[in-house]
Amino acid sequence: MASFHIEAEAGAIAETILLPGDPLRAKHTAQTFLEDVVCYNRVRNMLGYTGYYKGKRVSIQGTGMGMASVGIYVNELISTYDVKNLIRVGTCGALQAHLEIGQVILAMSASGDLGANHLYFEGMHYAATADFDLLLKAYQAAQRLEVDTYQGGIFSTDTFYGEEETERWDKWIKHGILGVEMESQVLFTLAHRLGAKALSILTVSDNLITGVTSSSQDREQSYMDMMRIALELV
Ligand code: HPA
Repeated sequence: MASFHIEAEAGAIAETILLPGDPLRAKHTAQTFLEDVVCYNRVRNMLGYTGYYKGKRVSIQGTGMGMASVGIYVNELISTYDVKNLIRVGTCGALQAHLEIGQVILAMSASGDLGANHLYFEGMHYAATADFDLLLKAYQAAQRLEVDTYQGGIFSTDTFYGEEETERWDKWIKHGILGVEMESQVLFTLAHRLGAKALSILTVSDNLITGVTSSSQDREQSYMDMMRIALELV
């Protein structure tokens, strides 16, 4: 019963799935944290794995970058494979000066410039929110694991490289947005529409206000923290 972009058999994908952008992150995470791992998707090298974490079945699927790509996988995971809980694990650029590299953010909502919203909402503005149950569980898991988190709104953009960078983010900063990434708005929107639950857990990879950036080595600890929180939701 493959879908257009996923070649998995029926039942090959778990009810709860972690969604990193990078498919090699999906592979690395599955190999690091899961037991009895099976790769269920290689179409376009957008790798997907199912295995067990502390005895519980979970999948990890690469989505690619950006809402156009994420939207395809989220649609197919929910509609064809009946996935119930979708947890993005990724990075964001911080929009508040006090947020340091590696800071973990639990996204309550995703504002953004999702082009597809013109089609979905005919010019009106939908407030895309995370699922409260997943958000609460992630917060509680972070407390148990003694990982500091910020909870708040983020911004999802279709455009990594804006034409006019000057003051691009000022109004979003003023409205308390913590960071910018490129995936969560469509994830939250489609999850609500298709009857699934979604959450985004992000780590700060760069700070757009202070100009501080990080190497992938710097990000390793916070990446592990984020994955542990996400896996506690299984
Ligand atoms: N912009 C968009 N997405 C991102 C960024 C950014 O600065 N950093 C990490 N994801």
